[in-house]
Amino acid sequence: MSYATEYERSLRDPEGFWSEQARALPWFEAPDPARILSQDDNGAWRWFAGGRMNTCHMALDAHVEAGRGDQVALIYDSPVTGQVQKITYRELLEQVALTAGALAGLGVGKGDRVIVYMPMVPEAAIAMLACARIGAIHSVVFGGFAPPELATRIDDAAPKAVLCASCGIEVSTVIPYKPLVDEAVDLAEHKPAHTVVLQRPQVEAELDRPGDLDWQAWLSEAEPVACTPVDATDPLYILYTSGTTGKPKGVVRDNGGHAVALHYSMKAIYDCDVGDVFWAASDVGWVVGHSYIVYGPLLRGCTSVLFEGKPVRTPDAGVYWRVIQDHGVRSFFVAPTAFRAIKKEDPDCRLKDRYDISSLTYQFVAGERLDPPTYHWLEDHLHIPVIDHWWQTETGWSMCANMAGVELLETKPGSPTLPVPGYDLRILDEQGREVGPNDEGAVVIREPLPPGALPTIWGDHQRYLDAYWSAYEGFYLTGDEGYRDEDGYVYIMGRMDDVINVAGHRLSTGAMEEVVAEHPAVAECAVVGVADADKGQIPLGLVLLKDGVNVSADELEKELIQRIRQAVGAFANFKRVVIVERLPKTRSGKILRATLRKMIDGVPYTVPSTIDDPAIVPEIEAHLRDRGVM
Ligand code: COA
Ligand code: AMP
Repeated sequence: MSYATEYERSLRDPEGFWSEQARALPWFEAPDPARILSQDDNGAWRWFAGGRMNTCHMALDAHVEAGRGDQVALIYDSPVTGQVQKITYRELLEQVALTAGALAGLGVGKGDRVIVYMPMVPEAAIAMLACARIGAIHSVVFGGFAPPELATRIDDAAPKAVLCASCGIEVSTVIPYKPLVDEAVDLAEHKPAHTVVLQRPQVEAELDRPGDLDWQAWLSEAEPVACTPVDATDPLYILYTSGTTGKPKGVVRDNGGHAVALHYSMKAIYDCDVGDVFWAASDVGWVVGHSYIVYGPLLRGCTSVLFEGKPVRTPDAGVYWRVIQDHGVRSFFVAPTAFRAIKKEDPDCRLKDRYDISSLTYQFVAGERLDPPTYHWLEDHLHIPVIDHWWQTETGWSMCANMAGVELLETKPGSPTLPVPGYDLRILDEQGREVGPNDEGAVVIREPLPPGALPTIWGDHQRYLDAYWSAYEGFYLTGDEGYRDEDGYVYIMGRMDDVINVAGHRLSTGAMEEVVAEHPAVAECAVVGVADADKGQIPLGLVLLKDGVNVSADELEKELIQRIRQAVGAFANFKRVVIVERLPKTRSGKILRATLRKMIDGVPYTVPSTIDDPAIVPEIEAHLRDRGVM
């Protein structure tokens, strides 16, 4: 089969294309052929409305019924605790059914929300699947988020319960989670009725609040439950992601479209099928973790690796190769930043030679731009296809990829290759006209989006329309800018908005600005993402002091760093603050962040004609150079 045929058919006959993919999955009631693609009451495109199913049934029960009960479903490999645990499909099903019963015992049912705030332990995946089993909607929050961020999500999702672990482990530092959850619940207006805590031996939590429960005791009183049938369009989960403002966007994922898209992608993109070992070295708190540690591999009947460690220091820069060898990984997916960390410690990739990684067939990378030096380093040392693919939380799976399971095309460094079937990708200029080859513009997708992509933002459909559909009528705005070359290859150059990507983690500079602006000495501020050789981008704070304030620059920097760690999280890598006299603005008062970013990164920029005072540009450039920022 050729990529071109597959892609062309997906756009010419989307309903035929996706209903064929849907037939590969075990539905309780197959989707109605007359409603493969329809519009809901909000006018949003929906896939498979009326089809009855359960994602957990498709991911677990159906495999056990098909005789795959003894196949390993999850491999938990945890260098930080020295454990490796293999869980078969049958065992995973038993644990999920019991946890689902325990949730039902708390009064959690179809449509209720449950927040999961856990490190990379099997119970995190079990919690997600248990929610799916009873039709409850999980919202997993990355364990690195500080209490105020968790509180915002608790208030927005209004969960009946929070499921957490007593601690996370960052290399050798043990981070107690329960105090963070307690603080978040105190900050939030909504109070979940229960907090269920998985006690880990590294730190046991005090269960001293009303509604606190011990995970094991909770399970010991539960009975396993069967799957609750849901509609394909019922929500499976909410995953909060950074937007332009401080308030995160609750990306809603439905059950049916999501299952069909991920099942398709496992083979078509990652070339993995029943029994193959797939590893995404991400975190369950991010979309990669949702789609490709938990749901995708299990829907396809693969074995998924759940890794609790880092690319380096757990114990060294050879750990990825060790895991690939020990578990026979076929396709491996990770963010480029992780390889930059390995490359720094083991520039010639010597540690790889200690292991037999002959099972590794493809190396996938995503989450941020794959810089050509890292691409070449991987090619030179691995001698297998290195596949960059581009996607985002909103879509839940790839928009551009070199589709290993369809037809492997020539790769070009810096490009995630061509659009994936279902994505009618265009590059538009500010007036909404398509640009020619090699001209940059906004990367957009023509409606309808394929199955799996978000149909709304939780509790705020207007924000969904405003953020994604208002810039160009009939086109989904990805927020990225880029171009296509003469062969149609897509190049993603970066975000057009205030979202930044730090070590593969998506963050909002707006959220950080809100925290910086609250400092009593700060009159005004801008946080911009600037290029960083290791982490891709890091945030830089530019602050203007209130008149008459007497504070040392060092002291202020220390205080602001601490505030961001406590309000957003250490993973934001907010480490540098520069005091400025003025900030460049438009006549209407909007800070010219993109201009500042380009200036600091040393890339060519044009000063917008809307600038209030052009004289500020050389002034601020000299100032930043003086401070060693440029
Ligand atoms: N819980 C608590 N703290 C966390 C955390 C978590 N889950 N993740 C990161 N942090 C903390 C770190 O401990 C560190 O704290 P410190 O400032 O006190 O030392 C801080 O946040 C910065 O972390 P990070 O940016 O991750 O730097 P690092 O040096 O610890 O690790 C990498 C660098 C590249 C190894 C790591 O960022 C990585 O593996 N990135 C891949 C990201 C990824 O998988 N993204 C998913 C998209 S595919
Ligand atoms: P997230 O929602 O966290 O997955 O982040 C999505 C954003 O990360 C995208 O909008 C891009 O800006 C960036 N991104 C993801 N994958 C790639 C890639 N392969 N190349 C360039 N940028 C990427």
